[in-house]
Amino acid sequence: MSVSRVKRSHTHPIIRLANSRDTCDIALLSRCEIEYGLPWAWTPEAVARAIGDSNMNVAVAVSDQGLKPQTDSESQQALCGFALVYFGRTHAHINLLAVSKNIRRRGVGRELLDWQIKSARTAGIRYLTLEVRRTNRAAQDFYRDCGFELRDTVSRYYNNKEDALRMIRKLEVQHES
Ligand SMILES: CC(C)(COP(=O)(O)OP(=O)(O)OC[C@H]1O[C@@H](n2cnc3c(N)ncnc32)[C@H](O)[C@@H]1OP(=O)(O)O)[C@@H](O)C(=O)NCCC(=O)NCCS
Repeated sequence: MSVSRVKRSHTHPIIRLANSRDTCDIALLSRCEIEYGLPWAWTPEAVARAIGDSNMNVAVAVSDQGLKPQTDSESQQALCGFALVYFGRTHAHINLLAVSKNIRRRGVGRELLDWQIKSARTAGIRYLTLEVRRTNRAAQDFYRDCGFELRDTVSRYYNNKEDALRMIRKLEVQHES
């Protein structure tokens, strides 16, 4: 999948590496859109640790819409999505990925994933994995559309309450032409 299918506009978000000022926005988006009904694992402290961890790659999508009342220009951008990915030696794991409700189905999720996949290829990663809640059909459709396949299911993975579907995408080696 490539970014060519992205529906862009002049207000389309840009993707960049997360920094410490993004911590609370990431944690809150995770709380509301991913961890709903579960204990809050990705608190601001946990997100801050991830941003500072050399094995984690945290990307954010930011837009100039909905400016925050701050002083410098970078911090005025509003966070509208993020992807937090663990990088191992040959394998990467998508811990969290979310896009704000008001900007979904405009290609931002795919762009965040493409950004991470580009980094993963550069780092020599051969395959990506993730877990997704069994009830989260939208995310399953999203990941399938982005080339992931179902690997197996883990019973009661989430707080002993809800099953997880484990998905995988192999990264084909790209040769320079
Ligand atoms: C899953 C999520 C990240 C997708 O982000 P998005 O920016 O809306 O996704 P995109 O616009 O890039 O969608 C790419 C493709 O995925 C599929 N897709 C995305 N959302 C879908 C939905 N709700 N239902 C069916 N298919 C969907 C479509 O094929 C879509 O292409 P199309 O719009 O041309 O039909 C977003 O819905 C989200 O943040 N959900 C809540 C958090 C979450 O569940 N995260 C995943 C678990 S960690």
